[in-house]
Amino acid sequence: MLLPDSNQRLQLLQQTGQLIDDYYQQLEDLPVTPKVNSDQIRKFLQAIDFEKKNDLSQVVDMVYQSLRDWGMKVAHPGYYGLFNPAPSFAGVLADLLAAALNPQAGAWHHSPFGVEMERHLIKYFAGRFGLPAEQAYGSFTSGGSEANSTGVLVALTRQFPDFARHGLRALPGQPVFYCSEEFHHSFEKIAHACGLGRNAVRTIKADEHYRLSVDRLEQTIKQDRARNNIPFMVVATAGTTNAGVIDPISEIAEVCQREQLHLHVDAAWGGAVILSDKLKGQLAGIEHADTITFDPHKFLSVPMAAGMLIVRKGHWLADTFHVETAYVPESSEVGMDNYRLSLQFSRRLIGLKLFMTIASIGRQGYAETLEHQVTMAGYLAQQLEARNWRVVADTSLAIVCFEDIQSDGLKQEQRADHQAAVVDYVVDSGRAWISVTRIVGRPVIRVCVTSYLTQKQHIDELVQLLEQARAKTT
Ligand SMILES: Cc1ncc(COP(=O)(O)O)c(C=O)c1O
Repeated sequence: MLLPDSNQRLQLLQQTGQLIDDYYQQLEDLPVTPKVNSDQIRKFLQAIDFEKKNDLSQVVDMVYQSLRDWGMKVAHPGYYGLFNPAPSFAGVLADLLAAALNPQAGAWHHSPFGVEMERHLIKYFAGRFGLPAEQAYGSFTSGGSEANSTGVLVALTRQFPDFARHGLRALPGQPVFYCSEEFHHSFEKIAHACGLGRNAVRTIKADEHYRLSVDRLEQTIKQDRARNNIPFMVVATAGTTNAGVIDPISEIAEVCQREQLHLHVDAAWGGAVILSDKLKGQLAGIEHADTITFDPHKFLSVPMAAGMLIVRKGHWLADTFHVETAYVPESSEVGMDNYRLSLQFSRRLIGLKLFMTIASIGRQGYAETLEHQVTMAGYLAQQLEARNWRVVADTSLAIVCFEDIQSDGLKQEQRADHQAAVVDYVVDSGRAWISVTRIVGRPVIRVCVTSYLTQKQHIDELVQLLEQARAKTT
């Protein structure tokens, strides 16, 4: 019952393949943003009676239509969103293969190819980031939040020998770590979850370029030491979520070396540019990182979920996640069981979608895609500046944050309302999705060229919509 016969399987695969192809053929004409409320969806779901059987082919149709009509179309060239990419087709196929063969990537002997393939990718990316490839290692994660939390656990274990056995209460003071105020909010949850407490996150005021201010970092470390708190880690963000800004990693690394602090680089989105010889210079200093968060499911356009934590010394992961079990047979490959290198036990073969994508388009294919998205963002910035919009935040990646110069005379909250009205107009058109955010409290409109399908004509359409919106809402 769970496995249809061969003919049915082929028909179902053909049907699903056809639907996926229809989706990509129609995508550009579909509205980017769904118009639906929870009542509508709940009524629809309640009508599905789990006491009855349904034909799988009808279930496939029903699910496809629901996902299409009642979901944000993140692959759409007009989706300028939250780092959720148009997925690579190689990645889609990889997820299908991983689901069908269902390898248990937690243990080497259950998936020798899977584990070795992920190892190969981790070593490759560690080498690109400039970490010593022999010693460096890592693990695939569900995304940046898990990678960041793994980084914090590794840092605690590495910095405090008593932490693994006796926990935080064995330490002679409150451990604290540092991020710029433009940090990713996952660190608040992580500090809460691992028992540090949210106050352990010291957010350092950004400089005038919205980057972590190194002077303020040094002062805050000094103050913490004077109060008997225990600094143990600094987070440098390489591509902030709001604006794509990259902290001064080399200078932060010098502070970490002097102060003997663990350097974690959150390169969840921006780390991808390490594949482009033209763009990778922006990540200078990342080679000093002790741990790096890097999410292929963002700028490398593999389907969600796929994150990575790369560590300078592989044994740090083993020190943090080592366990003995009676029921998992010993692998012949010592140190290669992922369940002893991460929080997950049963694990999906996350790396396959990255492997199949890079193996098919090659590093150069990726470099060209990333450079294209960055060029599109640069083109947008130019078009906006020619029309009385002010680009805010200095980034050479694929995000543009901006404000309306014509509303300069307004108070901050009025400016925020005006920007929200502009964004609502654009989103309501169904042709594009953009958002409002605040960078260090300053309200701005945010556009990220998230989909590799975005071309100049889509940017021109967006600019036209923004101009109409401004005329209507001023
Ligand atoms: C800089 C940064 N770090 C971490 C994360 C969290 O990643 P995820 O959503 O994969 O958990 C994000 C998400 O946008 C991010 O922008």
